Parts: sequence; C-alpha cells; structure tokens
Amino acid sequence: MRVLASAPAKIILFGEHSVVYGKPAIAAAIDLRTYVRAEFNDRGTIKIEAKDIRVPGLTVSFSEDEIYFESDYGRAAEVLSYVRQAIELVREEAGANGKGITVSITSQIPVGAGLGSSAAVAVATIGAVSRLLGLELSNEEIGRLGHRVELLVQGASSGIDPTVSAIGGFIHYERGKFEHLPFMELPIVVGYTGSSGSTKELVAMVRRSYEEMPDVIEPVLVAMGKIVEKARDVILSELDDDVRFSQLGRLMNINHGLLDALGVSTKKLSELVYAARVAGAIGAKITGAGGGGCMYALAPENQSEVATAITIAGGTPMITRISREGLRIEEVLP
Ligand code: MEV
Repeated sequence: MRVLASAPAKIILFGEHSVVYGKPAIAAAIDLRTYVRAEFNDRGTIKIEAKDIRVPGLTVSFSEDEIYFESDYGRAAEVLSYVRQAIELVREEAGANGKGITVSITSQIPVGAGLGSSAAVAVATIGAVSRLLGLELSNEEIGRLGHRVELLVQGASSGIDPTVSAIGGFIHYERGKFEHLPFMELPIVVGYTGSSGSTKELVAMVRRSYEEMPDVIEPVLVAMGKIVEKARDVILSELDDDVRFSQLGRLMNINHGLLDALGVSTKKLSELVYAARVAGAIGAKITGAGGGGCMYALAPENQSEVATAITIAGGTPMITRISREGLRIEEVLP
C-alpha cells in the first residue's frame, strides 16, 4: 500500500511570538504545499528520502543515510528530524513500533522562511503514515500530533503552525483552540529575504528577554494580543473592504514595530517592509519567527508595484493565495 498526502504552508497575519505566551494569533494557509508519500519497507526501519527541499539559495536532496548538500546542512537536517519524530509518534499511536516505513518528500515551501515548512512536513507525514497504518484521525487530531512533534524538536511552540496547516483557511488561534474566520481573498505579497531564521533559536531568544525583563516584555506581548483581537473584530465586521484593509494595514504596521522591539527583525526584513510601504502597501510586517525568512504586505491596489519594490530591495516576491484546504490525502494505492 502507498499513501500520498499534502499539507500547505502558512502565514501568520498577526501575533507571532506572543502566541507562544498564550496570547491569540491569526494565521492562514497559503497555496504552497509539501507532498509526502509513505509506504512499508521490509527492512523494519524508518527511511526518509527528500527531493527538492528548498533551503535558501539552493535545492537539496537527501536520504536518511546519505545527505547531499552544498550548504546549510543544518536546515536540511532539521527537516529530517521533524519527519523522523512524526513517523515515530504515529507508529507509537498505532501500536506499530518496529514497522518498516519509507517516506519520500517533495516540497514547494522554502525551509526556514517562516512559512511553516517544518509544520507542513510534519502534518503531511502524520497524515500519510497514519492512513498507511489504518489510523482514523481527523485533521484536527493530526494538527495536535503535529504540535507534539514541534514540541519534541523545537522545545517550545504554540501549535499554531501545524494547526493551520492541518485545518486550512483562516484561523484565530489561542492556547490550542482555534476558530475559523470567514474566508476572504487577501491581496497580499509575501517577500522572502533569501536567508533563513531558526524558529527554535528565535523563540528561545524572546524567552531570554522575557525572563530578564518581564516588566518590559510582558506589556509588548499584551499589546500584540490586543492587536490580534482588534484585527479579528475588523475581519468579522461589515465594513467596506477599503476601510477594513486600511485598518488591518495599520494594525500590521504596529505589529511589525513590536516584533522589531522584540529583536526578531533584521536589516533586510525591515528594508523589504519599508520598500513595500513606500511602493503603496497599506501595511507590511514580518510573518513567522523572523531572523530572516519572510515579510508580507497588504496591497489591495498595487500588488505588482509592491512585488517590484520588494525585488529592487533585494527580496523575492511571491504573490500567493489563501488556501481553503489543509491536509489532503491525494492518493491511496493498494
Ligand atoms: C512561527 O511560525 C510562529 C512562532 O510564534 C512560534 C510558534 O508559535 O510556535 C514564532
């Protein structure tokens, strides 16, 4: 038997980092996907093959035993550890420890870009392997297992990335619970800096600041939580799109300023954010953990001008769409 599953990337619209501290956040699945094929093997081992995993500046292919890469081995190895933990967790859930499983991955999602590549890899792996082992899991349960994988590999995680990847669409998320927000086409441009940040290290850095200066950092996190609640009200409101977008844009700019205050922006990220605003975006901010990775801009009237400005500032623009669908079983072959 062979199962092919896929799961989408995500952007965090509001509330990254503060969500790790129990504050709410808003995220959406986007139309870049990771594909995972799972089948049994006779060796009784876990075998992982990855083709076309995109790490900044290159595409790597590797297998469990042999790893081919030109640079940034760390990021490729990180992907491997999410996959391995995901397979082990599902084998345990299914009481199938010791069962030989081969998994092959192809991904359109750049690794370390803040677009949730690790979560998508974990969710698609759990989806494919659980179906292979005959486990009946809902997408919500798969999202929860994805969160367990993130906690094992990353140490700390809010669970928002695997949840939105498993569920799809727009979600408001807080402490493991999510609410679907009404679907809307968001005129956004994502700008990739071309360098990668480690979510694990960035979350740990914010934690250190929090522990050293809780009186200073806590109000910043509280303000981020308030931005998210205001954004949710705006999204749910009956306001005209131009008023809604202008309010969301202002909230994005404030959220970016606070993320910068936490120290997770970089010179390049800020340059892309300002280039987008100067080109007419009504809001622009980091998306995801920061430290490199991606920003996104809201540009209802001028997506292509904003994309050009991002290119001139040295980034790679991606005009993406929100994906209604989360985890998908693509194919089951006997
Ligand atoms: C990463 O996409 C979002 C962070 O808030 C980490 C997390 O929520 O687990 C930085």
